[in-house]
Amino acid sequence: MPLVNAKEMLTKAKAGQYAVGQFNINNLEWTKAILLTAQENNSPVILGVSEGAGKYMCGYKTIVGMVNGMLEELNITVPVALHLDHGSYDGAKACIEAGFSSVMFDGSHYSIEENIEKTKELVAICDELGLSLEAEVGSIGGEEDGVVGAGECADPDECKMIADLGITMLAAGIGNIHGKYPENWAGLSFDTLDAIQQKTGDMPLVLHGGTGIPADMIKKAISLGVSKINVNTECQLSFADATRKYIEDGKDLQGKGFDPRKLLAPGFEAIKATVKEKMELFGSIDKA
Ligand code: 13P
Repeated sequence: MPLVNAKEMLTKAKAGQYAVGQFNINNLEWTKAILLTAQENNSPVILGVSEGAGKYMCGYKTIVGMVNGMLEELNITVPVALHLDHGSYDGAKACIEAGFSSVMFDGSHYSIEENIEKTKELVAICDELGLSLEAEVGSIGGEEDGVVGAGECADPDECKMIADLGITMLAAGIGNIHGKYPENWAGLSFDTLDAIQQKTGDMPLVLHGGTGIPADMIKKAISLGVSKINVNTECQLSFADATRKYIEDGKDLQGKGFDPRKLLAPGFEAIKATVKEKMELFGSIDKA
């Protein structure tokens, strides 16, 4: 099935009280692992691409070519959206031109007026082309690929102002952080999430920083309107752990163990296991 935008999968998720995972990709192995896991578990999925990962993978057109090729060659029939993660205004336009089916414009570091202005322009472009658009209010804490957020709780009134512009999904800071959570993390602010959902109604809400959030908090967030959960660091950690083990066990020195197809295989399998675990937790299995 060709790429789809994220609108239908997220509308269904919000109505059915589950969440669709956005898993960030870094290379061919990552992409293949996520697509195969989605297909095997009959789950919709969103492939996330940060601007940094976009550069690393030789640009957005290369990524569109790789993903479209895989959808066909791997016979992927579940809904897949290719989504820019934390995009700048120019980055969003570049992805739209390259053939992404979905983009995020992260205007959370602008004043609310400027965030509204720029989001509005992108709503018009995405509407015309049938793409989905994610906007953000209240920055997500921590650092992801050079995008640093202070980590604040979004103002529910500002969330409503942005949601009313006609976006597809809304990311709002509720005490979540990219990367590993510190020991003294206060947890998600469910009061903020509840207030945001009350103001924004049917709008699918997005929870960034999915790595390391305890299962009970994930479930509660879904019950309060979160329909898309982003996971990046956790796949990187699983991949690194499995690869380290392979090398520490000296497997690259045995026979043809140095062949990249063998060397990267344990990390590939580890990503698949992490993605499956998240799909189970988010409730998206058999929801394709
Ligand atoms: P983690 O790296 O903490 O999983 O966050 C991913 C994310 O929010 C991508 O936007």
